[in-house]
Amino acid sequence: MKPINAGLLGIGTVGGGTFNVLARNAAEITRRAGRPIRITRVADKNLDLARQVTAGRAQVTDDAFAVVADPEIDIVIELIGGCGIARELVLQAIANGKHVVTANKALLAMHGNEIFAAAHEKGVMVAFEAAVAGGIPIIKALREGLTANRIQWIAGIINGTTNFILSEMRDKGLPFDVVLKEAQRLGYAEADPTFDIEGVDAAHKITILSALAFGIPMQFGKAHVEGISKLEAEDIKYAEQLGYRIKLLGIARRRAEGVELRVHPTLIPARRLIANVEGAMNAVLVQGDAVGATLYYGKGAGAEPTASAVIADLVDVTRMHTADPEHRVPHLAFQPDAMEDTPILPLSEVETSYYLRLRVEDKPGVLADITRILADQGISIDAMIQREPGEGESQTDIIMLTHVTREKNVDAAIAKDRGAAGGQEEGDPAAHGRAGLR
Ligand code: NDP
Ligand code: HSE
Repeated sequence: MKPINAGLLGIGTVGGGTFNVLARNAAEITRRAGRPIRITRVADKNLDLARQVTAGRAQVTDDAFAVVADPEIDIVIELIGGCGIARELVLQAIANGKHVVTANKALLAMHGNEIFAAAHEKGVMVAFEAAVAGGIPIIKALREGLTANRIQWIAGIINGTTNFILSEMRDKGLPFDVVLKEAQRLGYAEADPTFDIEGVDAAHKITILSALAFGIPMQFGKAHVEGISKLEAEDIKYAEQLGYRIKLLGIARRRAEGVELRVHPTLIPARRLIANVEGAMNAVLVQGDAVGATLYYGKGAGAEPTASAVIADLVDVTRMHTADPEHRVPHLAFQPDAMEDTPILPLSEVETSYYLRLRVEDKPGVLADITRILADQGISIDAMIQREPGEGESQTDIIMLTHVTREKNVDAAIAKDRGAAGGQEEGDPAAHGRAGLR
């Protein structure tokens, strides 16, 4: 089928990730989308970088408007960032009848009302899964999965940089500036990192989520925005002593009188799941009246996690383009004619770690026999404990956790172990047990 052509504007952290993941997983993505998706043109101010990443696989320019004007381009992917040139490019792309995919939360929170109105007028899509919580499909969850619900509130760790800073300060006692530099090096931070630190980026994101959850326009200007710059290491320590963790939360809550829209550091009881979201990970809790609370967790920043969301949007737009309307969103995710006959493996071929409990005679040489039998099957031991035998007992328990191995190796070892471990009956469930992944 005829490929769909995309023009990429900005091949920095997210643009580079998008180009690479799309190339790496091209065959699988085509099986899902129903047509190949190709980035045929790339615009970046940094031509050397663009040439290096594309390595001859796309036409490169430093004129983003030329890409937006190209009649061969079906989808424009805006990954430049900011509200200046990016706004002009997106509006121009829409005016030219092109679909747009963007990760630019600042642009949508500030100018989304204008952009969506223009897209509505022109009958094109503006897709923005990557704009909130990186690789987590929270936009799809709110817009599609939770449509039955009256959403009551959303609370999320939606800025990876600040969560990374808070985690590293608490766990490693590192100073703020050092951790921020590391977040920048890892590609998590915004071009202007004060957007992260002062809560502006999280406020852009919660503004977008509030619009999707409550059916209200983007109202970034009315959000309360407070970051982590005034927090000190002592606050983190004292909160810990009181049994809390400090997290920068974006909160949108519907009340009878209106909507609370706020970003600020928040004390969360340490035992809560969301309090244990560490590093650049994000988590979003959504409370709906029918479903109750649902939690979405994953990588909130970085090249490939964000690319994952950008490409999901590309596939969505492509499916919309697919000629046969019945196959736009395939029932089983892949197009019916692209299904593969990959075998389901029998249990004996399953690879995992195992928990083994062996009832053995408490006498010299037994442990050596067991470890030899395991070694013969290529099974390596991760951890082991031996129970002290009770008074007058001649037998005891040895408990082992193995490294990853195959079920059939464990079965073979257990069969041999029975003799060495003191003559347990074959198939005696007390002689062994197994647990799935650790
Ligand atoms: P980068 O700064 O890494 O990449 C942006 C690229 O665009 C740079 O190569 C930049 O070149 C180029 N550029 C700037 N101006 C122009 C122009 N006029 N024409 C062509 N190219 C231009 O940013 P990110 O990839 O980190 O972010 C991109 C977008 O994705 C932003 O909206 C950001 O908020 C969003 N985002 C980022 C995430 C992340 O983890 N990094 C996660 C989710 C969303 P130069 O460097 O020379 O200026
Ligand atoms: N700077 C953002 C963050 C990137 O740290 O979460 C992802 O939107």
